[in-house]
Amino acid sequence: MARKRVAVLISGRGSNLQALIDAARAPDYPAEIVRVIANVPEAGGLARAADAGIAVETIDHRKFPNRPAFEAVLDAAIRASGAELVCLAGFMRLLTASFVEAWRDRLINIHPSLLPAFPGLDTHGRALAAGVRFAGCTVHFVRAEMDSGPIIVQAAVPVLPGDDEQRLAARVLAAEHRAYPLALALVASGRTRVSGGTVSVDGHTTADSLLINPAA
Ligand code: GRF
Repeated sequence: MARKRVAVLISGRGSNLQALIDAARAPDYPAEIVRVIANVPEAGGLARAADAGIAVETIDHRKFPNRPAFEAVLDAAIRASGAELVCLAGFMRLLTASFVEAWRDRLINIHPSLLPAFPGLDTHGRALAAGVRFAGCTVHFVRAEMDSGPIIVQAAVPVLPGDDEQRLAARVLAAEHRAYPLALALVASGRTRVSGGTVSVDGHTTADSLLINPAA
């Protein structure tokens, strides 16, 4: 089966991008990254993409008078790359409803919490303040409302005694690097179906072991 062509949008260091690049090196991975686009020239992930031989592009949002003008150029760049799917990987611009609708069920995001808990910024600080026993990440199809949309994959990690934001963030980030390549593989291989705001996954297996924290 032909590999699905994917554009990845970034704003920063690009560690999730790197996880996708690494996964896509496997010959049987169902997606290939054909373009990486940053909205700021200093995004560290641009170098990661260039090192991997992937075409990169910077579309600096500050050079546009408004969001629709920026998104028109972004949309054209994605389409010019031939991408069929778009992955947001630490892309720090809100996208308008019309952009999101144009890419409905082909636009994927990763968020560092177990949505619908803790949308928005400062997820780890808020998780610690709330005293939750599990944190994690969510890969989801994007809808117009920020950090919402049908959930493809979640990965949970325990919150441990003595955690501060940095320690928790590092544990969640390691989970992100496994969850995102899995989610993209499920979508790219056609195993996901969206209906009624949820995603079903063909032929998936689910861990049935009880997670309990603190351990009984
Ligand atoms: C990740 O925590 C991701 O969940 C969030 O932004 C961060 C990006 O990190 N949306 P990186 O640029 O992929 O390292």
